[in-house]
Amino acid sequence: MIQITFLTNGNKCVSAPANSNLLRVSLREKGGIPFKCGGGLCGTCKCRVEQGIENTDAVKDKERRHLSAAEIAAGYRMACQTFVNGDVGISW
Ligand code: FES
Repeated sequence: MIQITFLTNGNKCVSAPANSNLLRVSLREKGGIPFKCGGGLCGTCKCRVEQGIENTDAVKDKERRHLSAAEIAAGYRMACQTFVNGDVGISW
């Protein structure tokens, strides 16, 4: 199991299986990451991986439509498109 900390939600920390989708964990555990479509279209789930960026999978093309290169370099992702394979801390 891995630990996901929702920094903007009072540092709420939950456990999840490895290779979990970030938005799905947020929904299941009431992590609080904003969302609308869940499918990589709206951009609402933009968030920042402040801790453990090395534990996230590769940035998808759908994300590049909503995030600038500078944002990606700063750790921004779209939660519905992001899978985590280790401990992370997320803000939004
Ligand atoms: S929830 Fe719409 S892009 Fe992620």
